[in-house]
Amino acid sequence: MRLFTTITALRCDLTVRKAQRPDGTVGFVPTLGNLHLGHLSLIRRAKLDNDIVVVSVFVNPLQFGPQEDFKQYPRTLEQDLKRCEETGVDVVFSPAPEILLGSSLLSSPTATPTSTLDLPTRTQVIPPQSMTDRLCGSARPGHFPGVTTIVAKLLNIVRPNRVYFGQKDAQQLAIIRRMVADLDWPVEVIACPIVRETSGLALSSRNRYLSPEQRQQAEALYRSLVRGEQIFNQGILSAAAIKQAVWSELSNVSVLKVDYVELVDPETLKPIQNIEEAGLLAVAAYIGSTRLIDNIVLRNRRPILAIDGPAGAGKSTVTRRLSEALGLMYLDTGAMYRAVTWLAMQSQVALQDEPAIAELVHQCQIDLVPQQDTLQVLINQQDVTEGIRSPEVTANVSTLAAQPAVRQALVKQQQSYGRKGGIVAEGRDIGTYVFPMRN
Ligand code: PAJ
Repeated sequence: MRLFTTITALRCDLTVRKAQRPDGTVGFVPTLGNLHLGHLSLIRRAKLDNDIVVVSVFVNPLQFGPQEDFKQYPRTLEQDLKRCEETGVDVVFSPAPEILLGSSLLSSPTATPTSTLDLPTRTQVIPPQSMTDRLCGSARPGHFPGVTTIVAKLLNIVRPNRVYFGQKDAQQLAIIRRMVADLDWPVEVIACPIVRETSGLALSSRNRYLSPEQRQQAEALYRSLVRGEQIFNQGILSAAAIKQAVWSELSNVSVLKVDYVELVDPETLKPIQNIEEAGLLAVAAYIGSTRLIDNIVLRNRRPILAIDGPAGAGKSTVTRRLSEALGLMYLDTGAMYRAVTWLAMQSQVALQDEPAIAELVHQCQIDLVPQQDTLQVLINQQDVTEGIRSPEVTANVSTLAAQPAVRQALVKQQQSYGRKGGIVAEGRDIGTYVFPMRN
């Protein structure tokens, strides 16, 4: 594992690594440091998905308000490096603030931060106001522009294939997803589930500010969310009723100063009245001067199951049987790759011509229509159920499946199926629940 503190050295190292493994992928986990098992879960997932894993450790002054805990924020680089090394990280990037932000902005590395909003001479990345004027954004003006500005810089420096964020900071995750989509960044944003203590308390670097007694009191946050979930599981979809249940659980702990209890759309963060597909139930509260947040996603749809594992492990068989047993649709992702191979062959595009294939795939529409015993496969409204099983397609499908642009386009289509729910599919990209298989 190597540690870099300058942009030039990091870029130089990544260029060498990429030259050594031209097809290798880079996974990136941005952090503020003081790594705990929550951070490590992101790193582990990045390791599973990629050839090279980069972690940044940078206490970003731009995202702390003047009254916030920038100065006290735990800086534990030695310990972080040890944890990264043990978890198999390849590169840690931990620059001094002046390296990323320029010395004129900060008189010393621990000076009171300058909020992004006060940086009229700098380019900033400002997320849409509709996503920042609620939840944590209203109590922390300048926080999310500070996050997006630094994450934008880090993404440009590291240029990863995938970047990992925790569901713990659900508003941050939604805002970053929007930024990446709006600015057409060629990076996949991967969300990782919240890691909790057995008591339910979500792991957070700020938990270290809590006394043992306060820690116990903090458990009420998750308890209140579970109460909301119980109400939802009883079939109550009204935001008012669900939020009421959360409030009443929180009010049992008088020292908690609740900042908000909100139910919003997980992607747009707009408040919802009734849960139709999914709702993000989020809370923030102070215990003493420590601000804690937590959330849970309530899904009002049938599940999406993903079966993952190496070739030859029996994924297709298990996926098919599971879909029959559960009465869910079998999303045959292999058929989708076959369909685009069929289309490329029909269109007489050279199969190695990746840009031409990318153009073709991004414009095609694949429909999978469940029939009595089979799955009808249509591409651009043409029935290719039989055609995609020909020996010629079988011989060529792996060439297309190896192309990142093809994969990206098909994953997008698979995820749009996923939004409807009620499916079993191969490959982790689609899944809310991923079941790994071994050979
Ligand atoms: P930080 O708070 O260090 O968190 C880094 C990443 O770890 C975030 O994506 C966060 O959601 C995730 N994380 C924290 N606690 C978690 C838990 N209990 N379970 C799962 N994931 C968890 O978030 C930031 O840093 C900064 O805003 C950053 C993105 C680095 C920009 O400065």
